[in-house]
Amino acid sequence: MAASLQVFHSKLVRPFHTLSSRSSTPLRCSAAPPPSKSHSHRRYTITLLPGDGIGPEVISVAKDVLLLTGSLEGIKYDFREMLLGGAALDATGVPLPEETLSVAKQSDAVLLGAIGGYKWDKNEKHLKPETGLLQIRKGLQVFANLRPATVFPQLVDASTLKREIAEGVDLMVVRELTGGIYFGKPRGFGTNENGEEIGYNTEVYAAHEIDRIAHVAFKIAQKRQGRLCSVDKANVLEASMLWRKRVSAIAQKYPDVELSHMYVDNASMQLIRYPKQFDTIVTNNIFGDILSDEASMITGSIGMLPSASLGDSGPGLFEPIHGSAPDIAGQDKANPFATVLSAAMLLRYGLGEDKAAERIENAVLDTLNRGLRTADIYSAGTKLVGCKQLGEEILKSVESNVPAGAV
Ligand SMILES: NC(=O)c1ccc[n+]([C@@H]2O[C@H](COP(=O)([O-])OP(=O)(O)OC[C@H]3O[C@@H](n4cnc5c(N)ncnc54)[C@H](O)[C@@H]3O)[C@@H](O)[C@H]2O)c1
Repeated sequence: MAASLQVFHSKLVRPFHTLSSRSSTPLRCSAAPPPSKSHSHRRYTITLLPGDGIGPEVISVAKDVLLLTGSLEGIKYDFREMLLGGAALDATGVPLPEETLSVAKQSDAVLLGAIGGYKWDKNEKHLKPETGLLQIRKGLQVFANLRPATVFPQLVDASTLKREIAEGVDLMVVRELTGGIYFGKPRGFGTNENGEEIGYNTEVYAAHEIDRIAHVAFKIAQKRQGRLCSVDKANVLEASMLWRKRVSAIAQKYPDVELSHMYVDNASMQLIRYPKQFDTIVTNNIFGDILSDEASMITGSIGMLPSASLGDSGPGLFEPIHGSAPDIAGQDKANPFATVLSAAMLLRYGLGEDKAAERIENAVLDTLNRGLRTADIYSAGTKLVGCKQLGEEILKSVESNVPAGAV
């Protein structure tokens, strides 16, 4: 694949690759309708799912950021706060109440904090908070999982990779979320011809499943640097051979995107060797599961990483990649940046509100530039603050709207 070297001056910070002029519509599969609100109204219904642990703390910050950004960019929100996870179990006896799913489905986008905690760890599987998370992803039929891995210049030393390797990394993994070996049939346990116990699974993809994730990935690449690397194992697996064939065919519809292919074993090596070569990666469920975790570790800070899950139509689900962090819950120690950046993804990829998304991204960079840090990203010479105070500082940055790149 083509290599591109991005140079960041230590104070010229613009780690989000977005080309706003090309992108004023939300991301959906080609046949899908646009969101329910016309651009002139710019009023959206957002379902908030604070969840458990630090979830309510970080969602509260993100909600304030959305509200202020909205008032400055001409957007109005109707927020519906609903129960999910342990909070829902305690109140209703199930981890995903029907009402939560129904309200979420009717909204324009869903913003989730995190679920889970020690209290429910020993519950039966169907009564675990995590079951609610899987159920809402399934209920919203989100098949495309977007996981950006961005190394912030201010936090480059948090990476476990050498500075010169990590600096400037800004990539997006687009993972197929509802197909492949995690769901393929037949699956199960049995006995082979020697009478030995076996376990087996099936990696299977239908053409339409590949096509729809490929369309999402090409559109994301268009919003970024215009380079898409499709990762597969087409030298061994038939499902990957079909994957490569379909992605290559769909590339004809996106002449402005440069497509390359890479085998997954090489991709896992290249992510550590020279991650800057990647812009957008598209891959299947299992490879994406592994590669997106590998990519996120390049950044070194779980509290900074947002994600989005999108479907054909209907609302997208936006959430930080971290969990409910029960060890620091209720102590005002949570880093809200990942949730605030998830709110920016909600605006950009869920609602097509690129300008408002950029204002939030700029605010995050400005807050970091002003040296404000929660404990998880604190280093000598910066100022340690709690979740609430960091939220207030982000609001100041939203208000001042210092453009990225400004000192
Ligand atoms: N999407 C989700 O809601 C999700 C994802 C992963 C885990 N979980 C659940 O969360 C619970 C805890 O899981 P875990 O400990 O493995 O993962 P975790 O992500 O909650 O925490 C891992 C470590 O990172 C820290 N951390 C995480 N987010 C942080 C933030 N925003 N600011 C500062 N520090 C942060 C935590 O304090 C902890 O030390 C479990 O019940 C698990 O099932 C939920």
